[in-house]
Amino acid sequence: MDDFPLLRRELLIGAGLAPVALAAAAAPAAAQRDPADGAPSPDQLRRMQWWHEAKFGMFIHFGLYAAHQRHEWAMEYEAIPVSEYQKLTALYNPAPGSPRAWARLAKAAGMKYMVLTSKHHEGFCNWDTRLTNYNAMQFGPKRDVIAEYVAAARAEGLRVGFYYSLMDWHHPDGARCATDEAARRRFVDYTHGLIRELMTNYGKIDILWYDVSLPLDAAGWESEKMNQMVFALQPDIIVNNRNRLAGDFSTPEQRIVAQTGGRAWESCMTLNDSWGYQRADDNWKGARTVIRNLITCARDGGNYLLNIGPMPDGGIPPESARILTEVGAWMKTGGDTIYGADPCSVIRSAYSNFTCKGNTLFMHVHFWPGSDVSISGLQVKVLSAKLHKSGAPVTVTQDAFRTHLTGLPETAPDSPVTTIALECDGVPRQDTDFVRINKPRAGVGI
Ligand code: GLC
Repeated sequence: MDDFPLLRRELLIGAGLAPVALAAAAAPAAAQRDPADGAPSPDQLRRMQWWHEAKFGMFIHFGLYAAHQRHEWAMEYEAIPVSEYQKLTALYNPAPGSPRAWARLAKAAGMKYMVLTSKHHEGFCNWDTRLTNYNAMQFGPKRDVIAEYVAAARAEGLRVGFYYSLMDWHHPDGARCATDEAARRRFVDYTHGLIRELMTNYGKIDILWYDVSLPLDAAGWESEKMNQMVFALQPDIIVNNRNRLAGDFSTPEQRIVAQTGGRAWESCMTLNDSWGYQRADDNWKGARTVIRNLITCARDGGNYLLNIGPMPDGGIPPESARILTEVGAWMKTGGDTIYGADPCSVIRSAYSNFTCKGNTLFMHVHFWPGSDVSISGLQVKVLSAKLHKSGAPVTVTQDAFRTHLTGLPETAPDSPVTTIALECDGVPRQDTDFVRINKPRAGVGI
């Protein structure tokens, strides 16, 4: 048996690469160049302003794989025949109102937008499509999950995104389109047609989140035409880069990797190790890790798209709800240090992380060391400091090397992260090289 699919996944995991990056590696030389770098156009800045301010979104992976309960790649990793996999439709039964619960949790967590899988690699469509009967109106819930989701997100005041997998393990042309032109023609028409429905039938959509472009390249998918259609139907939408074009933003996966040159980016991540519901996966991240990741994204000018994988009845795994509720409690007072944050060049600390807004530096202490904390090499003068949550003033002393905050409580005032706001006389900058080179050494041996 051909072991290509396995090898591909191993590579993805081993190299920590996004599938699009790997897919690009197989493409002709010209397509390998990352078109990502480059300053945004005025139109991109206009369309993306809300998204840059938002910083935090909810990813939702929900499809037949939820009913299977063994990860969304099971159909390929377990080589499940289509006829057997299709039977999962009988077990895929989101209770009415489940999207409302997702949206409420997203809002409570401080998230500003949502992205739901309209069709994942398994090929099942979560909406009332006219182009295949393999959809949620005909099987499973026999309702339009996408319509419910869109209404739920809007009811909570959240922006609406659709994830759409180009790769398709169910459609008969999904693999042979790579080698058979007639199949490619049919499959590309089908794909563009599905995307057209999504862009036409649900009102204003804020994000189109393409995924895995195997087995075609941008020319094969007719990706330029695809994006043109999308923008003609949704002039304010933003699209990612996984249809083999640059789109509006890059999509580092399970890693936080800032892009250069003003290029927008969003790090997507799971709460455990699975996107789709996997019953036995208990490798949950703590709320503190999630908050630290969000802070890092905001610090480096990016967004954080954090996933939930609802259960077959649409319920949110209790651990996901617990973690996101804790994150939300922190966001109630910490959110203003994240939303609309500027990229921040203060990065060095062994127990804290930073975000910046104008002349304010937010020091987010995740490992509370005791009654004093220090920042090395801050290149601006600190005018005042306070605990962000309580407003209690903090004593600051400063010389050319060290900004020293003293008189703090022995134990962390806030959980899981305590934030100290420092008003500075300019945009915060840090230079630890300056400290290393210039801070006086002892006179041993002299
Ligand atoms: C990968 C996986 C997929 C998941 C996606 C999210 O592409 O194949 O299962 O939906 O990452 O970024």
